[in-house]
Amino acid sequence: MAKLNIGIILGSTRQGRLSPQVGEWVKGIAEHRADANYEIIDIADFKLPFLGEADAPGIASWNEKLASLDGFVFIVQEYNHSITGALKNALDLAREAWNDKAAGIVSYGAAGGARAAEHLRGILGELKVADVRTHPTLSLFTDFVNGSEFKPQDHHLNNVNAMLDEVAAWSGALKTLRP
Ligand SMILES: Cc1cc2nc3c(=O)[nH]c(=O)nc-3n(C[C@H](O)[C@H](O)[C@H](O)COP(=O)(O)O)c2cc1C
Repeated sequence: MAKLNIGIILGSTRQGRLSPQVGEWVKGIAEHRADANYEIIDIADFKLPFLGEADAPGIASWNEKLASLDGFVFIVQEYNHSITGALKNALDLAREAWNDKAAGIVSYGAAGGARAAEHLRGILGELKVADVRTHPTLSLFTDFVNGSEFKPQDHHLNNVNAMLDEVAAWSGALKTLRP
């Protein structure tokens, strides 16, 4: 079976965002594994319009990129107890390209981004994305210096690998369902 392709999706797009630091950290851990190809997917690169605005080429590119992936790791940050508007819009702008795939979540916020992650799980159910149980939660207080420089505590490493184990296993299993 061909190697799996798993996208690490940065959920925030604002200037000065922390998500690239977190995404690169997850990718660095993932690259020590042999189970899949891992790449960072930056929503900001696609210049997506809001759903319902004039069509833009980014929508097709976004769908093509998602279609090329077997699974996802969402880098989720908590905005007003939920996910970012940018991530919700990006989720809404595709449908079949999400279906019958697996996902893990790495979240951060004052309470580990847990509330945002739980909202995302509900949305993923509707998109037929199977979200795995293991969920590394990063604290803005203890995993970032001054809330800006990412310095994750050591214990997160095992949790990230456990999450990736589950994402790779489910991504492989669900691939057999897709045409
Ligand atoms: C609009 C907005 C709302 C936020 N609301 C929350 C919140 O409800 N809970 C929380 O823990 N952090 C909240 N934060 C703090 C963010 O989690 C923190 O700024 C984080 O770095 C945002 O991710 P980003 O840097 O990748 O954009 C909020 C930040 C913004 C910009």
